[in-house]
Amino acid sequence: MVTHISHSPEETLALGEAWGRAASAGLVIGLTGDLGAGKTQLAKGIARGLGITGRIHSPTFTLVNEYGGGRLPMFHVDLYRLQTAEQIATAGLEEYFRPAGVSVIEWAEKYFPVEGTKSKVQGLPAQFRRVQIETINESERRIIYEDFGA
Ligand SMILES: Nc1ncnc2c1ncn2[C@@H]1O[C@H](COP(=O)(O)OP(=O)(O)OP(=O)(O)O)[C@@H](O)[C@H]1O
Ligand SMILES: [Mg+2]
Repeated sequence: MVTHISHSPEETLALGEAWGRAASAGLVIGLTGDLGAGKTQLAKGIARGLGITGRIHSPTFTLVNEYGGGRLPMFHVDLYRLQTAEQIATAGLEEYFRPAGVSVIEWAEKYFPVEGTKSKVQGLPAQFRRVQIETINESERRIIYEDFGA
């Protein structure tokens, strides 16, 4: 498990950018954190690191936004409006959990287990990065992450 303290939105963007640069196809990045923690900010960085130049905005109503034009496609999923793993499956979102590119999932704990709990579903994606973002104060965030699989 790695802990990174971000002191600004720009620093969170830079962390995501490094992840995007290093990402390989099939990576699923699951983000957990309160409203305004910085999940979308991190997703913007990941997109930038993948070489995606378009504007990234939260797919709160569309559930998923797909971005091409980069080294790999990025699928940005927001589970905020869904409650159960069953609803997520019914909404057709499970295909984004074995992506041809990179998937970034906001409110990932609605489908994937959080630390110290048993799997809510059968197994994790082949390559999964579980990320927890905690708000320390107005400008600081604690970003804790752990990799599973390849
Ligand atoms: N160190 C930091 N890292 C990331 N964001 C920060 C930081 N400091 C302040 N912020 C601010 O916090 C907000 C994070 O918003 P963002 O939309 O990324 O959150 P979110 O977790 O996606 O929220 P939501 O649950 O509503 O989707 C932005 O306004 C950003 O400027
Ligand atoms: Mg968001």
